[in-house]
Amino acid sequence: MNKVRIGMIGYKFMGKAHSHAYRDLPFYFNLDTEPVLQTIVGRNELEVKLASEKLGWHSYDTNWRRLLERDDIDVIDIGTPNHTHAEIAIAAAEAGKHILCEKPLAMNAEEALKMWKAVRKAGVVHMISHNYRFVPAIQYIKKLITEGVLGEIYHFRAQYLQDWIMDPQFPLVWRLRKEISGSGTLGDLMSHSIDLARFLVGEFKEVTGMMNTFIKQRPLGEMAGGLSAQLSGEQLGKVDVDDAVAALVRFENGALGVFEASRFAKGNRNGNRIEINGSKGSIRWDMESMNTLQLYSEDDPAGMQGFRMIHCTEDVHPYTANYWPAGHIIGYEHTFINLMAEFMRGISTNTSPSPNFEDGYRNQLILDAIDKSSASGEWIKIHN
Ligand SMILES: NC(=O)c1ccc[n+]([C@@H]2O[C@H](COP(=O)([O-])OP(=O)(O)OC[C@H]3O[C@@H](n4cnc5c(N)ncnc54)[C@H](O)[C@@H]3O)[C@@H](O)[C@H]2O)c1
Repeated sequence: MNKVRIGMIGYKFMGKAHSHAYRDLPFYFNLDTEPVLQTIVGRNELEVKLASEKLGWHSYDTNWRRLLERDDIDVIDIGTPNHTHAEIAIAAAEAGKHILCEKPLAMNAEEALKMWKAVRKAGVVHMISHNYRFVPAIQYIKKLITEGVLGEIYHFRAQYLQDWIMDPQFPLVWRLRKEISGSGTLGDLMSHSIDLARFLVGEFKEVTGMMNTFIKQRPLGEMAGGLSAQLSGEQLGKVDVDDAVAALVRFENGALGVFEASRFAKGNRNGNRIEINGSKGSIRWDMESMNTLQLYSEDDPAGMQGFRMIHCTEDVHPYTANYWPAGHIIGYEHTFINLMAEFMRGISTNTSPSPNFEDGYRNQLILDAIDKSSASGEWIKIHN
């Protein structure tokens, strides 16, 4: 068993998700590589020490650069805010470390391209953490589309709706500050929908977008794990990212796309949904019922046609044989375990499984175009 020694930067929401996935991976998958939770990094020594103990790491550090000098670290896992991704990833690539980076890959396409070039030049394995690709139902939808069950694809419809910042007293955390996040719902939520669309339908040809910021000032504060936050004072600051975004898309294969992302959709906690309509059938999927999908097929007999619910927990559904018997559901955390399994296989075979930094760059080209179009109102071509 080859040990893959991980150095992970960031220890809150994604730090917890990634730590859990590395720990559980050998429990469920029989791979020839095994991740070792070597060192976790954070800037605050007391907090990172506590996180290290709770999340099960062998050691901690307060400076990520020190990890790059060590020969007992094979992977750098980046779970920090978006403005840090490029600097850490490029330095890690130059130090010869494999890289798993959280999404969105960078602050803009220019940065993302530099990151992709750096990993290619260094020859290291790279992946971006678009975990929703690794939901068994999503992988099964890919199989159905590839086998022609939906026929020619006409429509891809995506909504990614949340509501956790609707209270005007919810603080101005890093996700609402452009200099740290790059964008709001666009990079945070719509980047996931774009990844699913590129995976399931194909490349984008042109886009037009619109966005709005409903609450323009908020009290200052910090993220406090998950999507919770704490206020750090009375002072107000400007929200300079989008609270909601919508986009229309033409795909290269002729399909039409309609995308919407919002943090102002009351009652939607993590409403990540897609619908695909083809010449022979349609599919619906919703993350809040992630183990199931709805399939309509024209091959069903007349009188019995209608959307049928498929529980994607049978052995024939991707990844599920690694877990439980049929009908014994899995959850959010398993999407990361499946992703880590692909990353470990990539390290064994020296290949970078998709979604990798190339996907992150192509995704970022689309994010930039929607952002630009939202200001100008024009349609923008994507130069793939
Ligand atoms: N795949 C997903 O579904 C998903 C979900 C949530 C977040 N994310 C992405 O993961 C990344 C982290 O988000 P999060 O929700 O875990 O954020 P978070 O605020 O919960 O945690 C961020 C961590 O980074 C640390 N940090 C902040 N600035 C830093 C710096 N300059 N140098 C070193 N460490 C620093 C913080 O101390 C904290 O440990 C972001 O890129 C975000 O877009 C992805």
